[in-house]
Amino acid sequence: MQLAGIESVVLESRSRKDIEETIRAGVLEQGTVDLMNEIGAGARMMREGFPHEGIHLRFDGRDRRIDFPALTGGKKVMVYAQHEVIKDLVALRLQTGGEIRFEVSEVGLHGLDAEAPRVRYRQGGASHELGCDFIAGCDGTQGVSRPAIPAGVLSVYERIYPFGWYGILCNAPPSSDELIYALHERGFALVSTRSPEVQRMYLQVDPADKVENWSDERTWAEFRARLATRDGWLPKEGPIFHKVIVGMRSFVVEPMQHGRLFLAGDAAHVVPPTGAKGLNLAASDVRILARAIAAHYKSGSRELLQDYSATALRRIWKAQRFSWWMTSMLHRFPGGDAFQYRVQLSELDYVTSSRAASASLAENYVGLPLD
Ligand code: DHB
Repeated sequence: MQLAGIESVVLESRSRKDIEETIRAGVLEQGTVDLMNEIGAGARMMREGFPHEGIHLRFDGRDRRIDFPALTGGKKVMVYAQHEVIKDLVALRLQTGGEIRFEVSEVGLHGLDAEAPRVRYRQGGASHELGCDFIAGCDGTQGVSRPAIPAGVLSVYERIYPFGWYGILCNAPPSSDELIYALHERGFALVSTRSPEVQRMYLQVDPADKVENWSDERTWAEFRARLATRDGWLPKEGPIFHKVIVGMRSFVVEPMQHGRLFLAGDAAHVVPPTGAKGLNLAASDVRILARAIAAHYKSGSRELLQDYSATALRRIWKAQRFSWWMTSMLHRFPGGDAFQYRVQLSELDYVTSSRAASASLAENYVGLPLD
């Protein structure tokens, strides 16, 4: 919007340091990489990020590779952590005269149905009010935007999974040149990376489990067990400096707009992490929204704005389906029987041996087109 000459103010409840240091996921779709470059925020990502041209699916003690460029006409993904994306976006915005008001509180949205909605908030002990034409609710699952929509307007679609992810960061060399998604009888495991010195890895656990139950020794023993291959592969181990357990769910509200409020990202939808779609969906939402707002100021037409929710939801539901499918294929379901596990192994065998099925996984993983 700034590039289109549209004035905007970003309200952020946390401090700059806080948002720049919160550890999050790290895989950018081709379209997110393109967006970062188009808006001029991509230079450090292109220097420091790691392009990945495939992933390994590990099951039955062996690896099968999905080759993204070969299956998608040349597309790939970039491993670059979300908080690095945030640092680059904040820096660019401040350098180019854009406004971000950090550490605001008591944010309230008013007059969403009127021509000129208002946002009230407090900052540094004083009350403030912003008048605006539109409000973008980009404030996550716990934000104020979604609850500001009157009761009865939104339909909620939700699925809670009976497992969570235990994620670690460790100081070690990469165990693999590409991500490994593994299904094992003991549960799912994922080998990812952040840099040549820092590795990111995940284990399926009970969502009520606590990191205190996972000593470093137990953590590495579990990774060794779930990632074991017939030819004796072992992860490269090192000191673990971050541990977290997160629950997993699929969640969508419809519509993503009400009056002059437009929801984007986690304010409107959440995906389970398998497939790394969360940040990428937020990026495609704001791209669709910014385009619609720009068209409104350019031509006076409301058409793209009226269609925002429907346009965004078509892509969101496809990513929901993909994330649900990857999650279902790669996790052990508590109480899941031997039949279900055999079907999962067979699905992995099919996905990695049929060109059509591999291409389907690949085109979803690198990101479906916007329209
Ligand atoms: C990472 C997270 C994911 O959810 C995923 O599917 C792959 C990688 C990560 O944090 O590196």
